[in-house]
This record gives sequence, structure tokens and C-alpha cells, in this order.
Amino acid sequence: MTGSDDRLSIVVVGASGDLASKKVIPALFALYCRSLLPESFQVFGYARSKLTDDEFRKKITEHLTCRYVPNESCDEKMAEFLARCVYVAGDYDSAESLRSLSGSIEKWEGGGRSNRMFYMAIPAFLLEGVTKSLGQVGLNGSGVDMQWTRAVIEKPFGKDRESSDMLAAQMAEVFDEDQIYRIDHYLGKEVIQNLMVLRFANLVFEPIWNREYIKKVQICWSEKLGVEGRGGYFDSYGIIRDVMQNHLLQMLAMVAMEPPITQDAKDIRDEKMKVLRTIEPVTLDDIVLGQYRATEREGFRHPSYVDEETVPGDSITPTYAAVSLRLQNRRWEGVPFVMSAGKGLGMHLTQIRIQFNNVPGNIFCRDGGCLEPNHLVIRVQPDEAIFLEIMNKMPGLEMKVKNTHLDLRYASVFDEDIPDAYESLLLDVIGGNKGLFIRSDELESAWDVFTPVLHEIDSGKVRPEPYEFGSMGPQRAQDLAKSCGWIGE
Ligand code: BG6
Repeated sequence: MTGSDDRLSIVVVGASGDLASKKVIPALFALYCRSLLPESFQVFGYARSKLTDDEFRKKITEHLTCRYVPNESCDEKMAEFLARCVYVAGDYDSAESLRSLSGSIEKWEGGGRSNRMFYMAIPAFLLEGVTKSLGQVGLNGSGVDMQWTRAVIEKPFGKDRESSDMLAAQMAEVFDEDQIYRIDHYLGKEVIQNLMVLRFANLVFEPIWNREYIKKVQICWSEKLGVEGRGGYFDSYGIIRDVMQNHLLQMLAMVAMEPPITQDAKDIRDEKMKVLRTIEPVTLDDIVLGQYRATEREGFRHPSYVDEETVPGDSITPTYAAVSLRLQNRRWEGVPFVMSAGKGLGMHLTQIRIQFNNVPGNIFCRDGGCLEPNHLVIRVQPDEAIFLEIMNKMPGLEMKVKNTHLDLRYASVFDEDIPDAYESLLLDVIGGNKGLFIRSDELESAWDVFTPVLHEIDSGKVRPEPYEFGSMGPQRAQDLAKSCGWIGE
């Protein structure tokens, strides 16, 4: 990308919001610092707030970091970057406002035409209006000339299969599928990207990566935070739509898919789609739901979910869910894929744990007790790592066996900085690499897994079990919580 002659207009729609200022623009700055943006680019912030260019620059500066440039030259880099950031105020669904954005872009282009990226950092309900208006003023640019126009959209992609299909149809009126980049930022995380390498660039895993050797796969996601001022959004989505149907299911797909023929986006997405289609739709019998309640400990008080701002007092939206999925295919039939996700828990952890079967006829099992089976633990965050739990003889004169682990912690093995997921994904958008983005048919299959049970939950059939904020989650899921536990301390 460095030194590319292609010019690039980056339009951040929703530029005054949190996603833009905390994630998207800092990621662009990081790419700039590493000379990974084209030489000629301009960032156009677009939002309703009336800001001057300087006010916009001031707002975004707060979250720019000097990770990739030594401090002395960082100020200079920031100044250069900020000089390329301008702001256009306008309504999201007004063709007239978007015409003025179009005017600013064309002015900068000076008669030529740049590649154009539209990053939609806006709430879902605004997406349709913006997309329509972009089409009306011709900013969708499909088939105009050799330059590309790409639209990056963020979840939530609807609330169920039907609304997701509707959204997809609305988008398709304005953008072709190959112009649309549906972001799931977990796919940009370093350890998730490594899953393909771990599985397919090593000989040792593939022969045992199946129902003959694997007993269970667990994907655990827990956050210490509550809904943190996002109660309004969260309450109409809940934990399943917020992280499970997307982030966790995407991780599952990367763990369970067949080897793609090549590293190409189409081949990877074909395999992910195939495996998603083999998952049986979840039923209420497969699920445990929870909702956090207040806690008061040592002078610290955290309110209940229902006491959070903008959450209705009688809400039964789950902030915790655990679900066991069944995959009906030759590789995985009979192996439970257990996913759990919760907010307001005692631990910040995202981890995939693969439990292998017991060793048949194990000569080290005695007195009715046997040894722990092997586990492969892939820790996505924090403190990225891969552990393989193995049995080992304890040093000494006795034959004592201990469960221990081979330990690959990124911080001790690699000197390189771990990039933020958005840096990696934005670079892929610019490079036109869609391997880490969700294709429309993948999205359909992902919704098919959860839509029936989400409708039952929405109709109020189940009340989530309360759990204390900062605890390990609902009582019914305690065993699961234990096996999701931290490893490596
Ligand atoms: C978002 C969810 O997609 O992911 C949030 O909407 C969640 O609720 C966030 O907190 C977690 O992302 P990360 O990268 O901080 O693990």
C-alpha cells in the first residue's frame, strides 16, 4: 500500500460518535504511522453535530496513540494526520446534506476520482436512510469507473433472520455485495486470525481435530463491565444478539470449519458458511439465561441491570447466556460446542477451550480415579496465549503425574506489538481482502441458528436467572464458569 498512487477518500459517517473516535480514527492513524495508507488520502468526518474542522480534530486527537512512532516524532505525525481530517456536518437521511459531502470530496479530488471508503459508524436504525441518500446522490459509485467505492458496516445486522434479510435487501439496492464489508471485529483479533494458521499450517492438530478425539469445545466470553451507558441499545438486543450470534459464532466457525482450498476470501467464507449451516437451531432446552443484579462490596456498589440508565425496570433482557450447540456433520456429530457470554462477571476473558477425550486404557489411572484429559486453550484476550495442557511426570523419585501446560504467551514469545482488530480490518478493506468479513449467506445461516429461540425469549417465555454483578454468573452455569476459568497464573 505504501507509496500507492491510488488516492483514497475515507468517509467516517457518524464521526462524532464513540466508535469513530475511539476505534475507527485511531486505527486509521495507526495505519498512517506505519505508512500503510496511500500517500494521498483524506478523512472526511460526517455527522449531525455542528463542528468546525478544528473542533473535530480536537475531539479525535484525544484517542490517538503513539504506539507505532517514538514519542518525539509522534506530534509531527499527528499534526500531519490531523491536517488531512476535515469535517462535514449534515443529516444522515438527507440527500441535500450528502450532496455537500459529495462536493467536499470532489473538491479534494480536484477533477479526478479517488477510491472511496464509507465507514458507517452509526446506530443500526440510521443505516437505511444514509444508504438510500448515498445512492440518491450517486456516492455509491458502483460501476462508475476503475476506482472502487466500499461501504463498511457494523453489527447489529438486524435483530433476526427476517429483519437481517430486509436490511440486506435495502443495502443491495444501493451497493453490490462485493462493495459491502460487514465487520465483525473479533475476526480481526490477532489470535482469531491465527486459528487458520494453527489448524492448517501445523501437521499435529488436523488428524485429531474431530469427534474421535475431541470431547467438547467451549467458547467463553466474559466482561467485567456492565452495559456502561449503552443500556438503551443493549436492552433491545440482549447478550445473544450483542456478542453470541456474531463474535462467538464466528469464532466457532473458524474452529469447526473444514480446511479451505486456499487462503482466498471466497474459499474461507465458503467453508465458514458450510459449517454454520450444519448447526441445529438452538432451543430453550439448550440455553441458560441470566441477568446481573446489584452488588455491594467493600464500599463499592454496582447497580442491577434494571437500574441502569435507560433500561426499563421490568426488563427481562439477558445479560448472560450459555448455550450448547450441535453440529450435524461427519467431523463433529456428538461433540457439544458450548458458548457462554456474560456482562458484569468477575473476569475479563475470551477463550476457546478444546477438551480431548480420555486416554483409552490409561495405565496411569489408579484406584478408580483417572487423570485430566488434554486441553488446548486458545486465549483471545487479555494476554493472548495458547496453552496445551498435558500430563507430565513430576520430577522426583516417585512416579507422580501432574497436569501442566505448554505455554505460548504472545507477550513472552513475540516482540511485535499486537495490532488492534480495527487496524487489521481497515487495511483489508483498503486492500479489498474480504476473508475476514461476513458474507450475506453466512449472516443468514448465523441468524437461522438463533432466530427461533430469540423469538421465544422476546415473547417473555423465560425469565433470566439473577446473578450478582462481579460473580461467576447464574447458579445453573457454575460448572461451566469453573471450566471457563483462567489459566496461566
Ligand atoms: C461489541 C459489543 O461488539 O463488542 C460490546 O457490542 C462488547 O457489548 C464489545 O463490549 C467487546 O469488544 P472487545 O473488543 O472489547 O472485546
